[in-house]
Amino acid sequence: MPHIIDSENVLGVNFREEIPQYTTMGSTDQYLYDPSLLNSLDFRKSPAILKPFITAADPGEPWMKVRPLRESDYDKGFLQLLSQLTAVGNVSRVDFLRTFAGMKARGDYFVTVIEDTRKQLIIGAATLVIEHKFIHDCGLKARLEDVVVNDTYRGKQLGKLITVTVTLLAQELGCYKMALECKDKLIPFYASLGYVLEPGNSNMMQIRYETVKKNNTNGAHNTNIS
Ligand SMILES: CC(C)(COP(=O)(O)OP(=O)(O)OC[C@H]1O[C@@H](n2cnc3c(N)ncnc32)[C@H](O)[C@@H]1OP(=O)(O)O)[C@@H](O)C(=O)NCCC(=O)NCCS
Repeated sequence: MPHIIDSENVLGVNFREEIPQYTTMGSTDQYLYDPSLLNSLDFRKSPAILKPFITAADPGEPWMKVRPLRESDYDKGFLQLLSQLTAVGNVSRVDFLRTFAGMKARGDYFVTVIEDTRKQLIIGAATLVIEHKFIHDCGLKARLEDVVVNDTYRGKQLGKLITVTVTLLAQELGCYKMALECKDKLIPFYASLGYVLEPGNSNMMQIRYETVKKNNTNGAHNTNIS
């Protein structure tokens, strides 16, 4: 049975939203995007040094799976993993599924994860977000967001693996460039994967809002945390 949720969209208009009932049997356990997109990525195109050589399709261990985010990842420690990156807040299952459904409907969010299938645990994640532009012949610009590896699995190439995966995916989807923001200490990490600090064009600026509107277009609760 679906949940019906009374919500309010960004324009303040009330609407009723249907969210599929979650089942642990996975009957509605959808992928965020088509997993076959990850099978044909050519890791030889990346300047990353991967020793041993690993790819999204063959991550080097039988118990390791690189795939799109799934609805059931709420129960596989996905949010706990993100909490090793920044504050996550109290995200209920309904909030998670609503945000997931909104991302899936938009089709521009490629949240990608690594699962330790022995433990049914999400141990790595990175997100590709695609922006639609009028410039560059109505081109597509990619953004790299929310890269994180579980602290007990770090130093085993998983950071490279998940970042190269979404970087190659952006190219495969027709983006003309991919950009990221990171702490200065991680510049060498991203540089080793092909990201470049362009002279005169390497500043990140932002404005943080003191107050945050409670309902975004997903109806999910946002906070100023990343
Ligand atoms: C950054 C992060 C994803 C790297 O994951 P990882 O699985 O340990 O990375 P890898 O094993 O693939 O290591 C890749 C290389 O980056 C280097 N590296 C990893 N983390 C680093 C860090 N915090 N600072 C500097 N260099 C780092 C490694 O030394 C390694 O270098 P090498 O190839 O010369 O040996 C992981 O440390 C992490 O989740 N950090 C917390 C969240 C975070 O800061 N995310 C980035 C947001 S922009």
